[in-house]
Amino acid sequence: MAAILRIGSDKMIWLIGNKGMLGTEISLLMQKSGISFVGTDNEVDITKLAELEVFVNKQALPITWIINCAAYTAVDKAEDDTEICSRINTFGAGNISKCAKNSGARLIHISTDYVFDGTSTQPYREDDTTNPIGIYGISKRNGELAVMENNPHSYIIRTSWLYGKYGNNFVHTMLRLMNERDEIKVVDDQRGNPTWAYNLAVVILGLIEAANDKDIPFGIYHFTNKGNITWFDFAKEIYRQGKEMGLIKKDCNVSACTSAEYPAKVKRPAYSVLDKSKIKAALEVEIPLWETSLKEFFQRQ
Ligand SMILES: NC(=O)c1ccc[n+]([C@@H]2O[C@H](COP(=O)([O-])OP(=O)(O)OC[C@H]3O[C@@H](n4cnc5c(N)ncnc54)[C@H](OP(=O)(O)O)[C@@H]3O)[C@@H](O)[C@H]2O)c1
Repeated sequence: MAAILRIGSDKMIWLIGNKGMLGTEISLLMQKSGISFVGTDNEVDITKLAELEVFVNKQALPITWIINCAAYTAVDKAEDDTEICSRINTFGAGNISKCAKNSGARLIHISTDYVFDGTSTQPYREDDTTNPIGIYGISKRNGELAVMENNPHSYIIRTSWLYGKYGNNFVHTMLRLMNERDEIKVVDDQRGNPTWAYNLAVVILGLIEAANDKDIPFGIYHFTNKGNITWFDFAKEIYRQGKEMGLIKKDCNVSACTSAEYPAKVKRPAYSVLDKSKIKAALEVEIPLWETSLKEFFQRQ
C-alpha cells in the first residue's frame, strides 16, 4: 500500500492525539510527505471546548481538516473509569466536531469495531445495528453519534485490533511474552481483523486527498487489514514470522484457550469482522492482507 500523497500546502490539517499509536504514525507520514499540519495531544484537552477553540483561533492558516485520534483506549480499565472514558470518547468527540463545524473544517474521527455486540456471523457493514457490550464501546458509539449530530460534514472510520510501532499493543506484548516464557495461551473464540496503524494512516490521508478532489460522501467507513482471524491465529503468525526474522530468540509453545479461561474485566465481541467494501469503492484502494502487513511491520522494526 503506497503512501503517495498530494495534499496542497494551502490545506492545514490539525492532528489531535498526535502522540498516540495511530497519531504518531499519521504525524510521521505527514512530515515525510511535506503536508502542512499542526499536532496536539493532552496539552489541548478535548474535553474542554474552549481550549479547542482558542487553539483553532490562534493558527495563522485556517484549519481545513481535523483528524481526531485522541481517545480513552484502555478497554478493561474503562469499566471502572466510566466517567472519564465517556468524557473523552463521547463529550470530547462532540467538542471536536462542534469546533470543526464552527471553523468550517472537515473532520475525520476514528471509532471502533467494539460498537458491535459480536453476535453476527457475517462481516459488519457500516449501517448494521450497533449494540456495544462494554463501557469503552458504549462511549465510542456515543462519540460517533455526537460527531454526526454536531457536524454532519464528518467522516468516521471504524477500525479494529490496531498495532504499530509507537504504542502498547498485541504484537508487542506477544513478542515480549514469547521471548520470556516457554508457553503462552491465547484466546481462540474472538474473531476479528488486525490493522497495522501505518496502513490506516495511509488511508486517512488518502481520504483527505480524495475528498479534496472529488465528492466522497460523509459518514461512517470501515477500514482494517484483509482476512479475519482469531487472536490465537494472530499469535501463531506473530510467532512464526517473529522466529523467522530473529525477533523471537527462543522456543515458545503457543496454545489456544477460551475467553472463559482468560480473566478480563470486560466482555469483548466474539465476532467483530468489519466489511470494507464501502471504503474500497470510495477510495479505490486495495486492502492489504494481514499477514503481509505484519511482515512489513516486522521488517521495519
Ligand atoms: N488500539 C486499538 O486497538 C484500537 C482499535 C479500534 C479503534 N481504535 C481507535 O483508534 C483511535 C486511535 O487509537 P490509539 O490506539 O492510537 O490510541 P492511543 O495510543 O491511546 O492514543 C490516544 C491519544 O489521545 C490522548 N488523549 C487522551 N485523552 C485526551 C484528552 N482529553 N485530550 C487530548 N488528548 C487526549 C492520549 O494521551 P495519554 O496517553 O496521555 O492519555 C493519547 O496520546 C482511537 O479513537 C481508538 O478508539 C483503537
